[in-house]
Amino acid sequence: MRTVQTIDDVRSAVRSAKAQSMRIGFVPTMGFLHAGHLSLVDVAREAGAEFIVVSIFVNPKQFGPNEDFSRYPRDEARDAALLEGSGVDLLFLPPVEVMYPPGASTNIIVGGVARPLEGERRPGHFEGVATVVGKLFNIVQADVAAFGRKDAQQCAVIDRMVRDLDVPVRLVFGETTRERDGLAMSSRNSYLSPEERAKAPVLHRALRAAENAITHGIHSVPDLVRLMNKVVAEVEGVVVDYLAIVDPTTFEAPADFERDILAVGAVKVGKTRLIDNIRIAR
Ligand code: PAJ
Repeated sequence: MRTVQTIDDVRSAVRSAKAQSMRIGFVPTMGFLHAGHLSLVDVAREAGAEFIVVSIFVNPKQFGPNEDFSRYPRDEARDAALLEGSGVDLLFLPPVEVMYPPGASTNIIVGGVARPLEGERRPGHFEGVATVVGKLFNIVQADVAAFGRKDAQQCAVIDRMVRDLDVPVRLVFGETTRERDGLAMSSRNSYLSPEERAKAPVLHRALRAAENAITHGIHSVPDLVRLMNKVVAEVEGVVVDYLAIVDPTTFEAPADFERDILAVGAVKVGKTRLIDNIRIAR
């Protein structure tokens, strides 16, 4: 695996892989990698990628002023070893000045699906995500790019951007990798104290309760939301940001229960904000 820090180095490595007729796969990340990130390397490979590029960039633009940008966990040496072991070909580790040189002032604003839920709670977040992912797509020029369904609204936002801007990349989505007790893997889980870590799986339990109720014929959104809130309320010290039942493409209330449904939520366990979702196939 080669590690590079400049846009020119990415472009020339990708150019030589393409000259050998290799299909390029891309997995953007913010690092502090776990099995969920690594599963996306396999998802890209299964989609036909033969030369895999992973980026690690803690993107300041997608963090709000009171969020965790400065303390976001980092371990580049460990990340590089994990990626090497997964057979990744190129690691792009750009310094902030490479991604946002002085004077940079263009942003990608996605409407519609970027507005509710995470969009409402984290103003500017999806603008930061869309802008950096749009830039990375232009830098890497991959054939396929893999994203995790753990960040379901992010998947929908990127999908919308790719369609709206005619970005020539095929998106593929990987299922959420979980700990044994159901907690979705996340770099932010490292913030949790042992007591908080023990409480954190309640978010997944609440979503599972909604899934179970839906499959048993409960199709009232208010009843399902009440049920999820009740499950979370059983654990002291976990504060609901939102728990919702939405259409997985619009993130608005579902028109009916004939199509796929998403149970989605965000909670705070102590100071740590966790998100998760379950897609209920119909
Ligand atoms: P990050 O949180 O590092 O996640 C990178 C990718 O890994 C995303 O596609 C995310 O959905 C996926 N992922 C995270 N946890 C996962 C899990 N438990 N199972 C499966 N996939 C998981 O998401 C970002 O970074 C950034 O917003 C980024 C897209 C890189 C733009 O800065």
